[in-house]
Amino acid sequence: MAVGTDKAGQDTFAHFDPAAMRKADSYKLLASVILPRPIAWVVSRDAAGGVNAAPFSFFNILSADPPLVAIGFSPAPDREGKDTLANIRERREFVVNLVPEDLAEAMNVTATNAPRGVDETRLAGLELEKCEVVDVPRIARSPVALECKLFEVIEPGGSSTIVLGKIVQVHVRTSAFSNLERLHIDPAQLRLIGRMHGAGGYCTTRDTFTIDRLSWPLEKKS
Ligand SMILES: Cc1cc2nc3c(=O)[nH]c(=O)nc-3n(C[C@H](O)[C@H](O)[C@H](O)COP(=O)(O)O)c2cc1C
Repeated sequence: MAVGTDKAGQDTFAHFDPAAMRKADSYKLLASVILPRPIAWVVSRDAAGGVNAAPFSFFNILSADPPLVAIGFSPAPDREGKDTLANIRERREFVVNLVPEDLAEAMNVTATNAPRGVDETRLAGLELEKCEVVDVPRIARSPVALECKLFEVIEPGGSSTIVLGKIVQVHVRTSAFSNLERLHIDPAQLRLIGRMHGAGGYCTTRDTFTIDRLSWPLEKKS
């Protein structure tokens, strides 16, 4: 492992070159410091129409115009590849559900490496709801669901695959809005969870604070 330490200001820093690290170690390090990460709970369908669900925390919104999300897939060492990725390539559509605290355990059940063709939503006892645009259901008790069409698959050259999805329909539980007309959301009503470090680390989104945006020129503090 390429590690060097030096002092910058008050702290000592360790330095890593990801290219010089074992793949498992660079994954471990990066996934433990890029925190917290939102979780895409992806529902997809296989070629025969069977439903599949699994969580992915290498996930975020990358563009609002056009509305794009990105999901990063790692290889599955115990099988050919992840079912979700195969399904998205095959049918070119999927649904990203966001995960509330009370569905954390169910989300974890759907992360099992079940054989292809097993519907993890059944294993987890999840109720499904029909979508508007895509022929894939959403998770009924998830407060937010994003219907997506495949925009692009990026093969960055290593073992990972990145999927860009274009959001074509958004579902938000109305109780999550403090003002629906003005699109003001109360995150305390969503109670979403995020992914933290290690094999099983998570956080809630309950501990929040606000900072007013500043404009130029910066006002001098008195
Ligand atoms: C919270 C959480 C986040 C995860 N994030 C990812 C991820 O970003 N990329 C990935 O490839 N696997 C991720 N996994 C592992 C997949 O969910 C797991 O491999 C799953 O079995 C894939 O299911 P599938 O084969 O039905 O697609 C995550 C697991 C959990 C529990």
